Amino acid sequence: MNLILLGPPGAGKGTQAAAIAASHGLIQLSTGEMLRAAVKAGTELGRQAKAVIERGALVPDEVVVRIIDERIARPDCDRGFILDGFPRTLGQAAALDDLLAARGRQLDLVIEIEVDDAALIERISGRYACAKCGAGYHDKFKQPKTPGVCDVCGSTEFLRRADDNAETVKNRLMAYYKETSPLIGYYFAKGKLKQVDGMAPIPEVTRQIERLLADVVAA
Ligand code: AP5
Ligand code: MG
Repeated sequence: MNLILLGPPGAGKGTQAAAIAASHGLIQLSTGEMLRAAVKAGTELGRQAKAVIERGALVPDEVVVRIIDERIARPDCDRGFILDGFPRTLGQAAALDDLLAARGRQLDLVIEIEVDDAALIERISGRYACAKCGAGYHDKFKQPKTPGVCDVCGSTEFLRRADDNAETVKNRLMAYYKETSPLIGYYFAKGKLKQVDGMAPIPEVTRQIERLLADVVAA
């Protein structure tokens, strides 16, 4: 099964992609995570992407398309993948169509996570992640079971993202509405789009997505 999670910054794409990938044995492909890893590793790609990410703008299409193309070619993606944060422009969507067609693969479903704008700001400003394994948390909505200890790996160190500040978030939202939101119409027209209510609590959003996936499997 090959899926796309679509939604504005803070909608819950990463949270839901991790849950669905784990329950279905799919690979989560987050271009944001890949770019942050490149920044951390200090590669040439990371050096180029750092300033763009910190501004809240989009990295050029050809850069992210190349990353996804190379990643999908790896055998662990044969069982299927969830794209989280890609595609983000109509150009990226067209490139994805081409690279899937070239491999004889298809897109099963695009799931749009719908969230009110005001809630996005609250979600992003409260977000943090384990410094060791990357598991995601929130000050109010998703705290570790034992305070200060990662549920997944037991680490006691946590990080906040450099682009999760008020100024950058405004630019990220603007980039979403200008460049990414046209994809909603693009995938609707292709008959691939379904919505979930992203204002519901995290486990309920996961259940809504599971119901959509059950329909895909049954079809
Ligand atoms: P990226 O990392 O993709 O960031 P984003 O799209 O801005 O989305 P986020 O990761 O902020 O949000 P999310 O939807 O994953 O939400 P999460 O699950 O964490 O991209 C970062 C940057 O990289 C971009 O700005 C761009 O510069 C560059 N980039 C990446 N891909 C690119 C591409 N394809 N092309 C060009 N440039 C690209 O949830 C947020 C918080 O809310 C968490 O704390 C979570 O616990 C909480 N939460 C989640 N769901 C709920 C819920 N239902 N109720 C309450 N709280 C919830
Ligand atoms: Mg994310």
